[in-house]
Amino acid sequence: MTALIRELPRGTSGRVIVGISGSPGSGKSTLARALVRAIGPGAAYLPMDGFHLADEQLARQGLLERKGAPETFDAFGYARLLETLRVRPQHTIYAPDFDRRLEQPLAGVSAIEPRDDIIVTEGNYLLLPGEAWSAVRRQLDTSWHVVTESALRQQRLIARHEAFGKTPDAAREWVRTVDEPNARLIETREGAADRILDLTEWVPGPELV
Ligand SMILES: Nc1ncnc2c1ncn2[C@@H]1O[C@H](COP(=O)(O)OP(=O)(O)OP(=O)(O)O)[C@@H](O)[C@H]1O
Ligand SMILES: [Mg+2]
Repeated sequence: MTALIRELPRGTSGRVIVGISGSPGSGKSTLARALVRAIGPGAAYLPMDGFHLADEQLARQGLLERKGAPETFDAFGYARLLETLRVRPQHTIYAPDFDRRLEQPLAGVSAIEPRDDIIVTEGNYLLLPGEAWSAVRRQLDTSWHVVTESALRQQRLIARHEAFGKTPDAAREWVRTVDEPNARLIETREGAADRILDLTEWVPGPELV
């Protein structure tokens, strides 16, 4: 997979942006971090999840109950950051991430340096239609859609929700009522990806990426 990235044609700034989409729990974040680690210096990680709106803003818009749905993200803000990265300014660009303990976005978690010429970004909604998400898609040099067999994917999601404090019942209920409807929406867009990767048998490790 690192070879696939290294072979990609570079834009005028010499930078390449790889976008990974996929359903909740499909392994996007795990794969993106593993790729960045395997490539080493020169690669940087940028999660879409950093562009979650804060609970305060969601409450103002009556969207708290829909947290995690496409309209609960600052998609234009994400597209603009990608656009800035594409220009490759000669200073550090700080990017947010989502803190699963706080369940809130957190500014300035990642530092993307001028020397970084491979940006791996990932999230649920990179391939959605509509003005804002299309603006994100336009900034990607290539897009990969990852899939993991549904039962395994849901089992991992439930385990992750429990690890971050949900009871087993609440974890199962969240997957059924929130994650799975989002998964159905994301799956309708897999045809828009440049490449589909099945991660069902994938074991994170430097030898496999
Ligand atoms: N190949 C794997 N083997 C074992 N566990 C894995 C593997 N890939 C991912 N996981 C685990 O499964 C869970 C879901 O993976 P991950 O967080 O990468 O998914 P995601 O697609 O980023 O999900 P989300 O859309 O919710 O952010 C995590 O707890 C992760 O550690
Ligand atoms: Mg993730």
